[in-house]
Amino acid sequence: PGARTARRRAGMPAYDLRSGTPDLSSFPRAAWLKAYRRALTAAPDAAFGYGDPRGREELRTVLAEYLARARGVYARPERIVVCAGFAHGLMLIARALRRRGARSAAVESYGLGHHAGLLREAGLATPPLPFDARGTRVDALAALAPDAVLLTAAHQFPLGGALPPDRRTAVVDWARAAGGFVLEDDYDGEFRYDRQPVGALQGLDPDRVIYLGTASKSLAPGLRIAWMVLPEELVDEVATG
Ligand SMILES: Cc1ncc(COP(=O)(O)O)c(C=O)c1O
Repeated sequence: PGARTARRRAGMPAYDLRSGTPDLSSFPRAAWLKAYRRALTAAPDAAFGYGDPRGREELRTVLAEYLARARGVYARPERIVVCAGFAHGLMLIARALRRRGARSAAVESYGLGHHAGLLREAGLATPPLPFDARGTRVDALAALAPDAVLLTAAHQFPLGGALPPDRRTAVVDWARAAGGFVLEDDYDGEFRYDRQPVGALQGLDPDRVIYLGTASKSLAPGLRIAWMVLPEELVDEVATG
């Protein structure tokens, strides 16, 4: 706990902003082991089968409660799909959107190239959105007319700002009017910095915003655990894709 606690007390995020990696020496090994032991002891034999492609119901149920409480996400267990990291979830979503005929997903001009690359590998074009002093210019969506947009709305990576309230509303309005989807990368939603907490965009319209969260910042990227909260119409297509 040492290094991570010290960073928190100093008002710093608990992970290195340049590498994006949390302090690996502070992984809560004992707590994780204890939880693992408890889960393994209680798990029915069926838990070791292929099971529901969305993930175990027990996990989706606690995630739904947690995401509603901590991030203001409208999350019912039926709409949650557990995946092996944000990158995996993004890939599944991109493939599902492409199968439905989507052609492009706009990205932040200062965003992770790797994530834009995954969208392109699924067959989507990735036009970049311009950026000004207030953050990503979502007004450009009208002219670009993509089928989806990928945003780090609560904490832009790597520049750090939150999407201003008028732009949060504007991007959801765009999605409603255009029938598009907002892919919300809430990679570090658990962390609070030097400003008011910003809730998830997904709460503004759970049918147009796809929420993606990950354990890669709050715990460790090696776990490869993440989750998506999907509009009802996409759940089966993403989970079985
Ligand atoms: C912007 C951003 N999104 C998402 C992630 C998490 O990705 P994953 O869950 O695939 O480890 C990271 C991790 O570095 C990130 O920097």
